[in-house]
Amino acid sequence: MDEKTMQDLLGKVFTAKGSSNIAFSKYWGKENEKLILPCNSSISMTLDNKDVHTITSVLFSDKIESDVFVLNGEIQDLENKDTKERFEIVNIMRKIADTSKKALVISENSFPTAAGLASSASGISTLVYACNDALKLGLSAKELSIIARQGSGSSCRSVVGGIAKWNKGGNESDGSDSYVEQIVDEKYWPELMDIIAIVDPGKKKVSSRAGMKQTVETSPLYKLRPKYVEENIIPQLTEAIKSRDFEAMGKLIMKESNDLHAVMLDTYPPIFYLNDISRDIIYAVHELNQSRGKIIGAYTFDAGPNAHIITTQENKDGIISLLKNIDGVKEVLSVKIGSGPVMLGNEEALITKENIPKFLKLTA
Ligand code: ADP
Ligand code: DP6
Repeated sequence: MDEKTMQDLLGKVFTAKGSSNIAFSKYWGKENEKLILPCNSSISMTLDNKDVHTITSVLFSDKIESDVFVLNGEIQDLENKDTKERFEIVNIMRKIADTSKKALVISENSFPTAAGLASSASGISTLVYACNDALKLGLSAKELSIIARQGSGSSCRSVVGGIAKWNKGGNESDGSDSYVEQIVDEKYWPELMDIIAIVDPGKKKVSSRAGMKQTVETSPLYKLRPKYVEENIIPQLTEAIKSRDFEAMGKLIMKESNDLHAVMLDTYPPIFYLNDISRDIIYAVHELNQSRGKIIGAYTFDAGPNAHIITTQENKDGIISLLKNIDGVKEVLSVKIGSGPVMLGNEEALITKENIPKFLKLTA
């Protein structure tokens, strides 16, 4: 490749850094699988991208023969059903930009992929953010959330910082009313933290996508859930967040997690994401709260056994030592509330002069 072509390609690299989020009230079940429209609204806290993050570089060029997606150093098979469905967001964005340019995407997660730490949320939101700049689309957070949602539902909440609500929508057939709104930004309650106990960094047995479908189809208990979440949990949680009422919020977070894992268990065949260590953590958090006479930590679990303990800065050390004393906890990460994705400079790009020839076969 000549120097001029290389410089031209390097000039088109755009790099974003984003992060995952942890749901306080959960998304589990779709009304529309193609558009990814959820059965109920959900609320989450965006995690600080200093602590857990995805960095994604994208390059669109008419010199690229076909799309290449490299995740954590490995070229991904874009014909694989799951990857193909998620990569569809790049096609959506290309369509808006009215271009057929192919892309090189190189992405790295700073935490285990597919282990229930929502790598998809972090990865997809960051990808959408980077493509918005690379394709010069200038889309708003609301518009980006609608696109991200179609790659992975929970990812749409990571398009903004602070605490976000993904509105269920459901009145517009194209899904344009299912988007994200910020409830409060990261400065409103800056002491909030997520202390993550890694219990098992391995790949989960049942993906969220397959698991929630099975729940919707088979769980009689689930039938009660969407309405209950929509009418009770979402308004109460919003109120607790706005009034910075940790006790009220913490109780709702724990009950929501328990409810989610109850409908998972009620699925046929049942889905077990929690293990004995997760349960030890649940008991330990309740004991700690009881001994303090108030809720200072609230556990929540997604589609995996790893625990997220929502707490505030002043109680961080107590929660960390509690978790470290539980047999089977492999690692404890402490993460602050975060600001949502940001663009990075070229110095931090993952697409470089060195790896372009390695990953790209260019057209003549
Ligand atoms: P998790 O609980 O970690 O989100 P999932 O199985 O739900 O696990 O999602 C993992 C999938 O998310 C990966 O197979 C990949 O398709 C996608 N994903 C993960 N990280 C990224 C990334 N950095 N960029 C784009 N997509 C990603
Ligand atoms: C348990 O967003 O990964 O983390 O939309 O099928 O990609 P798809 O599912 P995904 O599900 C997340 C489920 C959850 C709860 C939550 O984050 O709200």
